[in-house]
Amino acid sequence: MELKSKLPTVGTTIFTRMSQLAQQHGALNLSQGFPDFPVEPRLLAELQQQVMAGRNQYAPMPGVLELRQQISGLIQRTYGVQVCAEAEITITSGATEALFVAIQAVVRSGDEVIVFDPAYDSYQPAVELAGGKTVHIQLCAPDYRVDWAAVERRISDRTRLIIVNSPHNPTGMVFTELDWQALADLVQRHGLFCISDEVYEHMVFDGRVAQSARQYAALAERSFIVSSFGKTFHVTGWKLGYCTAPKLLSVEFRKIHQYVTFSSFTPAQYAIAELLDTAPELVTGLAAFYQHKRDNFRQLLSSSALQLLPCEGTYFQLVDYSAVSNLPDLEFCDWLTTEVGVAAIPLSVFSRQEQDSRIIRFCFAKQPDTLAQAASRLQTLRQSGQ
Ligand SMILES: Cc1ncc(COP(=O)(O)O)c(C=O)c1O
Repeated sequence: MELKSKLPTVGTTIFTRMSQLAQQHGALNLSQGFPDFPVEPRLLAELQQQVMAGRNQYAPMPGVLELRQQISGLIQRTYGVQVCAEAEITITSGATEALFVAIQAVVRSGDEVIVFDPAYDSYQPAVELAGGKTVHIQLCAPDYRVDWAAVERRISDRTRLIIVNSPHNPTGMVFTELDWQALADLVQRHGLFCISDEVYEHMVFDGRVAQSARQYAALAERSFIVSSFGKTFHVTGWKLGYCTAPKLLSVEFRKIHQYVTFSSFTPAQYAIAELLDTAPELVTGLAAFYQHKRDNFRQLLSSSALQLLPCEGTYFQLVDYSAVSNLPDLEFCDWLTTEVGVAAIPLSVFSRQEQDSRIIRFCFAKQPDTLAQAASRLQTLRQSGQ
């Protein structure tokens, strides 16, 4: 029997591979983007209470209304924008489901979708499964800013969708007001749709204010905006996220969502609704919490031979290791894991075009002790070289 693959180039992701390698070699795992510190006890207690109270059956298809109302309040407080809880917010099984569903809702056979490399790895396969084709625009070190005039030159009559991600994984770049305005202008003039992946929205540093596609009217009316509670509440394993979109787009989004998952884990929806209501500081304090980790990690690495790239948001830090080694980044990450005991992600895996840079990504959503130990191992790179 033969099954012709719909995704012939897809294999095991680098995140799985590096985490396995880290485990095999007892390395500190700064590769995959997940926190290693304890989850807020109030959230855990609330989840337990919801389970014991019997909230264990299917949630409503668009999500528990109490949670959608809390999200609407959060959006109002954060961005000063009114979003309708009933018609415009849909709870999903992680941001990954929201991205997949939004892509299936918009992309038809032969459509082109603009993505920016380095890019999160779920965009391209989802576009291909919908019969579309990704058009890749490479962003470049050290600051990975978008050249919007160059983007416009890549728009054709087949372009249907543009996918953006700010704050950006893996580079930590954050869109400015000018970026959002340029994007809104392009989307409107060319009649495109937009998916704005904002899963790191509450992690922006150095006094920057979180900005969203929803604050730009011309953009908001053509956008699916994707968020993740996994990132915001340090519970990536709960796989709970949401998509906000205008009513017309949400209707199409829900048609697909109801046949992908129908609904998401009920007790967690109630638990998060309760925490958003009673502990809003968990969200408002997130930027300071991660900025502190970023600053410490950067400080610890400042005297190493690794060159630190800017990090304006997210919980990722890029470093250039060219002073240490000439190995390609994949081989360097293998070596770093097995010989130095620190796992990282090679930046080239986020781009379609072959990259000849010497840059890797560390995740600093880790306990102070993990980061200190990792930094002290990375300090040795200066002497050892390769
Ligand atoms: C840019 C980006 N989008 C989406 C996701 C997926 O989020 P979730 O775990 O909620 O599915 C991630 C997770 O790492 C991410 O980095």
